[in-house]
Amino acid sequence: MSHFAFDEKFAWGVATASYQIEGAAAQDGRGPSNWDEFAQRPGAIYSGHHAQVACDHYGHLSQDLDLLKDLGVTAYRFSVAWSRVVPEGVGAINHAGVAFYDRLIDGLLGRGITPYLTLYHWDLPAALEHAGGFLNPQAPAWFEAWARVVAERFGDRVKHYFTLNEPHAFIEGGLRHGRHAPGHQLPLSLVLQAGHHALLAHGRAVQALRALVADSWVAMAPVLICATPESEAPADLEAARSWTFSMNAPELRCTSWWMDPIYGRGYPSDGLRLFGADAPRFTSAELDLIAQPLDAVAFNLYDAAVVRAGPEGQAEVCQLPPGGARTAFNWPVSAQAHHYGPLFAQQRYGGPIVIAENGLSCRDWIHLDGCVHDAERVDFLLRHLTELAHAQQRGVRIAGYFHWSLLDNFEWNHGYRERFGLVYVDYQTLRRTKKDSFYAYRDVIAQSRRHAAGSPSSPLQDDALGPLAHS
Ligand code: GCO
Repeated sequence: MSHFAFDEKFAWGVATASYQIEGAAAQDGRGPSNWDEFAQRPGAIYSGHHAQVACDHYGHLSQDLDLLKDLGVTAYRFSVAWSRVVPEGVGAINHAGVAFYDRLIDGLLGRGITPYLTLYHWDLPAALEHAGGFLNPQAPAWFEAWARVVAERFGDRVKHYFTLNEPHAFIEGGLRHGRHAPGHQLPLSLVLQAGHHALLAHGRAVQALRALVADSWVAMAPVLICATPESEAPADLEAARSWTFSMNAPELRCTSWWMDPIYGRGYPSDGLRLFGADAPRFTSAELDLIAQPLDAVAFNLYDAAVVRAGPEGQAEVCQLPPGGARTAFNWPVSAQAHHYGPLFAQQRYGGPIVIAENGLSCRDWIHLDGCVHDAERVDFLLRHLTELAHAQQRGVRIAGYFHWSLLDNFEWNHGYRERFGLVYVDYQTLRRTKKDSFYAYRDVIAQSRRHAAGSPSSPLQDDALGPLAHS
């Protein structure tokens, strides 16, 4: 297998989220979440699926920790279910919930794996959703209190935190489009104000973590919506970079509306113009609160548009060639996003860069030989790591990569239709089966870590990368 020349501190990781894998939704004192209630709404979730059991990670913790050990990751990104620890969102603590995450964290540390804890990956306690959720101006205070609970109970062992996962998704998906919990379709002005509350919540959580966790490392995990250039011509490069940080439509699935404020640039002027009277009301003091210093420029990165420079240098989105590689979700396979996305992000926000999520869904099944031969995921992984290495060769400081995901899991309103895991989950028996990609990633990590430690390892084998090897 091949290796990649990332340094020995590089975080070789894999990511999950509490609601998508844990199950045990009403077990041991966990309070209901907004997604528990949303999934009961007829038609909300593909084929009526729900996550009351999911992968039962809650009941398979030791086995899943051993999978992480076998995989050889040095870092594991997971989220804590707010309502499992604080069932009403604020107030009383559920000690059984704390105990579960103690077992998870101690199990990671005991296996030499660094925990990266996401404070919020969309599963809001139902009690807070009933109080308006992020629409409520109290939400930043609720979230700060939540960050304090987590820091006080786990901060002695957990030093790495992501505050919010993809705020565009839970704000726009949940409050504007209605495809995510709580399933509202509200006026844009309310949606944008809720998004502002989410950014304030981020800022207050960073302050709480800094105050309570010695040597804390804190970032956010927004999605990077980026473009790659049709060519390396300077005009195409500039068009792709410009497109990546422009707001090309009055939508929140974008980069700059979320990343500009947290990295001290305030809300982007093109976005404020686009949203006009619907834009949130904010003060400069609030922008300062949002822009708390962070330890990385982290983002989830899945795919990208391809862009060329038009006659006046403006960005023109290129039509993708027919029949191009696509995932089961019909997302284009655009590995070069992992070259240009980190490059552009570092130029605008600094670094180091951390890929907090990357992966694909495939129509996986157990083959007659009892294995899952997910060749597409193996190729996808190698291509994306190769492009990440290209970014590094171009001067980008890459500090980590978290593959999405360890296990096949509950893909939100798409239920269990999409399989993203390195490990196949039979949802009837809950049996786990390592896919070929699990072994491929394991070998890449092992080889790369040996290379970083200076011991001999087999060089990058060109055949593993095909045409990419010489690009
Ligand atoms: C997201 C979420 C994950 C998804 C993954 C695949 O980025 O949407 O963080 O929960 O499951 O990205 O869509």
